[in-house]
Amino acid sequence: MPIVAPSLLAANFLKLQEECQMLNDSEAEYFHLDVMDGVFVPNISYGLPVIEQIRTATKKICDVHLMIVQPERYAEAFKKAGADILTVHYEACPHLHRNIQQIKSLGMQAGVSLNPHTPVDLLKDVLDDIDMVLIMSVNPGFGGQSFILHTIEKIRQLRRLIDERALNTKIEVDGGITLENAASVVRAGADVLVAGSTVFKSKDPKETIRQLKHIA
Ligand code: DX5
Ligand code: ZN
Repeated sequence: MPIVAPSLLAANFLKLQEECQMLNDSEAEYFHLDVMDGVFVPNISYGLPVIEQIRTATKKICDVHLMIVQPERYAEAFKKAGADILTVHYEACPHLHRNIQQIKSLGMQAGVSLNPHTPVDLLKDVLDDIDMVLIMSVNPGFGGQSFILHTIEKIRQLRRLIDERALNTKIEVDGGITLENAASVVRAGADVLVAGSTVFKSKDPKETIRQLKHIA
């Protein structure tokens, strides 16, 4: 069964406490928190003060997805704000190995995210050091986009790399996940499903989370 990680980017920010409570009562294990800087991606979302407050509203795992340049400048601040998992983008980190060590030394789990055009092979030399790979199945920056089909092949390739080395590295897939495509994503080897619009725009978000959890 996959871990379900609803993305609060699609939540109603005027009702954030109720949205957090709904997630607390649901089968979701992670709160997926998308941070965008308007530089690495063409959009700005929310940042540290919002995450600090969300932290006080849940005991679940705060899975922070940084779509920002120079994440090393903020890693410690995100730890203080309550991040359990901190994911940086391969494409934003010329010194990725150093970024990973920094995140782990701060006591967080380290994730690395790949844009749709970035091959999974490029992670070969850091795979043993990380806790999670986040495969983007849309171009990062916005919720509500369509799933890029080629992602399925990337998930399979990464699953093979991880299994060959008998690692516990999790595969998280983010962008355009629906009740229709989630099963094929899990069958390809995903461990964690991020879902924004599918959860928060549905009539019964808690039931949608339950369906994602029991999808395959
Ligand atoms: C996109 C973000 C995603 C986004 C997913 O850049 O990383 O987490 O919120 O939203 P949906 O599920 O609507 O594609
Ligand atoms: Zn995300």
